[in-house]
Formats: sequence, C-alpha cells, structure tokens
Amino acid sequence: MATFPGNLDEAVAAWLAGRGQGLAARSAALSERYKGGKTSRLVNPAAYLAARAPATFAACRKVLVEAARLAPELKPKSLLDVGAGPGTAGWAAFVQWPSLARITQVEETSTFADLAAVLNAASGIATLENAWLVRTSLQDMDTIEEADVVLASYVLAELSLASIPVTVTSLWKRASEALVLIEPGTPQGFARIHAARDALIAAGAHIAAPCTHGGACPMTGDDWCHFKTRLPRSRLHMHAKAASVPFEDEAFTYLVALRKSVPSEASRILAPPVSNKTGITLKLCGAGGLEERHIPSRDKATFKAAKKLQWGDRL
Ligand SMILES: C[S@@+](CC[C@H](N)C(=O)[O-])C[C@H]1O[C@@H](n2cnc3c(N)ncnc32)[C@H](O)[C@@H]1O
Repeated sequence: MATFPGNLDEAVAAWLAGRGQGLAARSAALSERYKGGKTSRLVNPAAYLAARAPATFAACRKVLVEAARLAPELKPKSLLDVGAGPGTAGWAAFVQWPSLARITQVEETSTFADLAAVLNAASGIATLENAWLVRTSLQDMDTIEEADVVLASYVLAELSLASIPVTVTSLWKRASEALVLIEPGTPQGFARIHAARDALIAAGAHIAAPCTHGGACPMTGDDWCHFKTRLPRSRLHMHAKAASVPFEDEAFTYLVALRKSVPSEASRILAPPVSNKTGITLKLCGAGGLEERHIPSRDKATFKAAKKLQWGDRL
C-alpha cells in the first residue's frame, strides 16, 4: 500500500510481524502524545511505523515532487535526513532522486535509530544499506558534513519554537543545494515553518515553495498555510488506527529553500477550489498577498483550465 522503495514494504511488514498486539492502543497513545505537543521519545516504534510512517512518507513524496519540479536540474548525490525516525523521509527522497549515493541519518532516540538500522539493512537499496546513522541531536551536529539536500521531516515539532531560527540556520549551512522542511499541517506546524522562513531569508536562502515570493508572509490571524495529501490505508494501517475507511488525508505544511533562485511563478492555491454554477473561486497567495479570485464559467478557456487545479497547485 505504502509502496516504499526497494524491499522496504516487505522489510516493514516483516519487522511489524508479531508486534501487532495492542497496536491500536499504542497508536492511540501515539496520537495523543503528538496532539499534546510531546516528543517521540516515548512513542512506540511499531505504532509509528504502522500508523504514522505511511502518512509522513506520503507528505514527503508530495513535497519532494514539487521541489524537483521547481529545481529540475537538481540531481542530488548526498542527503542529510535529520530526525530520521525509521528513515521515512529518506525513502521518499530516494524515490524522487535515485541519484542519491550517500545518506546520513541523524536520530537521537535509540529505539528509532535501532529500527532505522534494521530497515536500512533490509532495504535492498545499496545507498541505504551503507547509510551513516548518527545517534545524536540535530542540534549538536559538529561532526556532520554538508549534503546536497538536507531534509527535516516532522521533527521541528519536537523542538521549542524559540530554537527554530538557530536550528534551521545550522541546517541551511549544511545544505549545498536545498533544505526541505516538512511539518504537521497545524497552526503550530505553520508557526515553526513561518519562523524557519524568516531565518532562512535572513541567511540568504531562496524560498522556492510553497511561497511564490520571498517577501513577508501575508498569513495572519487564525489562518495557517497547509496542504493535504490522500493516501490509501493498508489493512494493518486501518487496524492500527481503528479506522473504518481505507484512506486518510494527511495535513502538512512545508518549505523548500534553495541556493539558486527559481523563476518566479504566479500564486499558489491555499484551499480546496470552490465551484458552483457561476464559476470557481480560488484562495491564492502570491507576491501581492492573499487574494480570493473568482473565475467565471463564462470565461470558458480560463475556467476549463482552472477546473483542473487543486489545493496546493500553482496558478
Ligand atoms: C515524528 S518523528 C519523524 C520521523 C521521520 N522524519 C518521518 O518523517 O517519518 C520525529 C523523529 O525525530 C527524532 N528527534 C526529535 N528530536 C530530535 C533531535 N533534537 N535530534 C535528532 N532527532 C530528533 C525523534 O526521535 C523521532 O524519531
């Protein structure tokens, strides 16, 4: 279901076999911990692998497809995956960029680092089999060398908001081409991305996505910039979530920062387009700020094109 690369679907299933007992309760405890703003330290790794990894992988896939679209010349050879957990974000990077020949994973919690080591070895992907797994904090990476792409997926949420500017600036220093941040699509996740964006612009980064400009973020009040991706649930995933529908929508927010600037594009769609008989209304963010634009159905060519657009697309 998840379609992780290499042999990882099989490796994940094999690791979870025999660890299914009490999974629904452990997954519920995991959700409560994350909703309560707690860290992964006491999270059960089987619950994470069954209930969260498919969703974080799906969000990473979506973001990396957009990063690759914006920087088509980017063919990274090296990846630094911080707060790697089981390795999920690196798996998504490997799907996007099979050119990756070196992966460094930084993970401070031993249960997750142990799990990543097992899955790396069983992945059937030479780069992952040879991954350098560093058991330390991403806030203490003096010995870690730079990589073409640095990826921090669902980890800033485990740091204090006050520490975000210094932390992302240090990650940026290690990114020779791109830094990609992915967070839960909550107001708190967006607050972290917002703080990271300001720090990265101050450090000279070009913000390539989701923003279409490097000016001040116009999002204020109780609104927050986020997106969704739908993923199918396997039987085990449904069991872990005590779910009745075979899919789920993962809300995420993100930032792609590049060393090279990208040609500026128009606005990004920040909510599901709303259609009715008169036309389509799009919530947009662009260099001019936030805007609601109505495309009347009588404007046939533009309306036809707009009908194909989705939340998260660029206009
Ligand atoms: C929610 S999981 C995300 C795992 C993976 N990146 C993903 O997207 O599925 C967060 C991971 O970051 C790790 N982590 C939290 N704080 C960390 C820190 N300061 N340094 C290194 N790893 C950290 C946790 O142990 C956990 O494995």
